[in-house]
Amino acid sequence: MTIISPSLLASDFANLQRDVEMINNSAADWFHVDVMDGSFVPNLSFGLPSVKAVAKHATKPLDVHLMIVNPDKYITAFAEAGAAYLTVHYEACPHLHRTIQAIKAEDMKAGVALNPHTPVSVLEEVINDLDLVLIMSVNPGFGGQKFIEAAIEKTRKLRALITEKGAKTLIEIDGGVNTETGRRLVEAGADALVAGSFVFNSPDPSATIAELKQL
Ligand code: DX5
Ligand code: ZN
Repeated sequence: MTIISPSLLASDFANLQRDVEMINNSAADWFHVDVMDGSFVPNLSFGLPSVKAVAKHATKPLDVHLMIVNPDKYITAFAEAGAAYLTVHYEACPHLHRTIQAIKAEDMKAGVALNPHTPVSVLEEVINDLDLVLIMSVNPGFGGQKFIEAAIEKTRKLRALITEKGAKTLIEIDGGVNTETGRRLVEAGADALVAGSFVFNSPDPSATIAELKQL
């Protein structure tokens, strides 16, 4: 079954505990937490104190997506804050291999995110070291954007690379996911789906998570 990681970016920040409990009691598998620095992406969001606050109440693993420059500086801090999966952007890491090893040294699962313009082929040499690859199906920085169709073909290519290399890497997709795009992504080989606005803007977020879980 598909791993579902609801994105807290679309939650009600003034009622964060309520939304965390909703996810705890839903069919969701992980919590997707988007960290932005106003430099790698043109927006700001959660920082370390918020991640810690979520970790205090969450009963499921925290899937932390770092949209920041220089993520190496904060790897230990995010481990201490409670991240289970730590995903950095390929475009922000000139020494990606070292960054991946540093994440694993803190006993977290290591993920790499690819912006829409970055081909999956750049991961050929590190795919066997990765627990997760996050394909961005929107340009990172904001929730509620339109799904970029090319993500479907990219998912197929990544699935082929993982099979070819005999890797155990999970494929996660982030941006514009709903039941329609989600179904096609799962068909193309996705293991995990992030969904923000589709979940939190729906009349019954928990039922929407359950629906995505069936894909
Ligand atoms: C965008 C974030 C996403 C965002 C997805 O930069 O990485 O996780 O919350 O939002 P939706 O599901 O609304 O596209
Ligand atoms: Zn994200």
